[in-house]
Amino acid sequence: MEKRLGEVFDSGKFSHGKQVGQLEAALAEYTGARRVICVNSGTDALVLLLRACGLRPGDGVLVPAYSFVATASAVVLAGGQPQFVDIDPETYAMDPAALEAAVTARSRFVMPAHLFHTMADLEGIASVAHRHGLTVVEDSAEAIGMRRGGVHAGLHGAGGVLSFFPSKTLGALGDAGAVLTDDPEVADTVAALRHHGRAGRTLNDFPAISTESALPGVNSKMDDIQAAVLLAKLTVLEEQIARRAELAAAYTARLRDVPGVLRLPRPTAGKPGDRDVYYVYLIETEDRDALVGHLGRHGIGTEVYYPVSLPHQPVFAGLGHGPGDFPHAEAAARHAVALPFHPDLHPEDLERVCDTVRSFLTARRAA
Ligand SMILES: Cc1ncc(COP(=O)(O)O)c(C=O)c1O
Repeated sequence: MEKRLGEVFDSGKFSHGKQVGQLEAALAEYTGARRVICVNSGTDALVLLLRACGLRPGDGVLVPAYSFVATASAVVLAGGQPQFVDIDPETYAMDPAALEAAVTARSRFVMPAHLFHTMADLEGIASVAHRHGLTVVEDSAEAIGMRRGGVHAGLHGAGGVLSFFPSKTLGALGDAGAVLTDDPEVADTVAALRHHGRAGRTLNDFPAISTESALPGVNSKMDDIQAAVLLAKLTVLEEQIARRAELAAAYTARLRDVPGVLRLPRPTAGKPGDRDVYYVYLIETEDRDALVGHLGRHGIGTEVYYPVSLPHQPVFAGLGHGPGDFPHAEAAARHAVALPFHPDLHPEDLERVCDTVRSFLTARRAA
């Protein structure tokens, strides 16, 4: 990493340098995408992808009722209207049957999100999309390395995204993201939109101050420092993914029979060419909030993904959804918690987390 960062410092080019183009090529090779366009966050990647795919003002975009808020707010920022769909409680992703029921005359896009360790049922979603003429785009922000049928997440429809937020499976030293697509027109439009609407295939193709803008774009360029960091980390990504799988298996083996655990992550990649990737290790329990407090008092950090289901976030109050409208999403929001999880997690620490979870939940059941 020092060598890569040294190149950036020596060049003096912190924007419009060579690292971003090199990262785009490396990510295209890693994911199999025809084109990768690096931007400054996963959120911007979603907004620019939706705009580039031709979203018109007021278009309905079917999104899961349970995800990070950006899945739905990106739709609003791109000019569309989110239409919420309940999730499948096993995959935490959009349920195709609920999708069918949620399609309206306004719907033009469907955007499943692949969360935590596995992907949405893309076959089921594609068949609903096909029947209703919907364009599929994927919120694959958490899904680097995940595949179905040999195809990387984000490349099963018109395009997808990656987030390189520091805690992600491939994390930068700040915010960063990318769009993945096999469609050269979508790619060219995203590339222009990220840079004030100026055409040019890589950032290195144009001077920082050029005169011609064909579209009302934004400034969502990735910094060369982040690209250098990501290029260095990409070389160990597969090793880290393998380590994540081992740690997830170790958690599952130790927590399988703990009373009060409602759900552990279940592998869903079953066919050749499928791969799950553990971004976080999420469990469910009715005692979630008490467990979080107890672990915290024992110096064990947790993260609650996602405490408020999207239709019930204040920002979407205007859409008029109430409690009980999305039962699976609401249950996940009440019960889910992510345990400490990163490739450097020490086996003794993992044991301590499991022992603390077990003793607390066992005592709760006995009380
Ligand atoms: C599912 C999902 N969508 C979108 C995003 C937004 O990505 P970013 O934080 O890079 O803007 C994230 C990550 O935080 C995410 O997990």
